[in-house]
Amino acid sequence: MNDAACQCKQRFADPDDLAPLEEILERYSGERGALIPLLQDAQEAYGYLDERVMRALAREAGYQLSQVYGVATFYTQFRLEPIGEHLIRVCHGTACHVAGAELISEEISNLLGIKDGQTTPDMKFTVESVMCVGACSLSPIMIVDDDTHGKLKPANIRRIIKKYRGGGGETEE
Ligand code: FES
Repeated sequence: MNDAACQCKQRFADPDDLAPLEEILERYSGERGALIPLLQDAQEAYGYLDERVMRALAREAGYQLSQVYGVATFYTQFRLEPIGEHLIRVCHGTACHVAGAELISEEISNLLGIKDGQTTPDMKFTVESVMCVGACSLSPIMIVDDDTHGKLKPANIRRIIKKYRGGGGETEE
């Protein structure tokens, strides 16, 4: 199997390993009111906010667990479930919307059989809608992991997804 496109298999830490969280806590030590950035960094490290991570964060940073849960569940930017190996973010900011982002999302949904915010049963892909990511001149765009794909047409999507499945299709449109 061609693994060339799977550069991010291990991109998230295991929630049983609290070393990344300790580094994050160290970064914000002594800062009051840093709960949101703490959670953002924890999510960046683990891919989502696992209960073990939130419990440790609350204990070590001196927050009530209910406060941590309250913030994590209030803001839509936080995920409480593991995400797939590849995160597809489709921009639905104004420029991308006007340029056809809805059609891009529909095509992804048709190809993967999942809706916005869902993960494929094989844990390969998670799809999320995001607001403007600051690359409007390339609209409509989607970002897969750290790669930006711009000026998309629905017909491009199958080939891009195939690349991340490890099935080739590396040539850009
Ligand atoms: S609206 Fe999509 S990048 Fe700005």
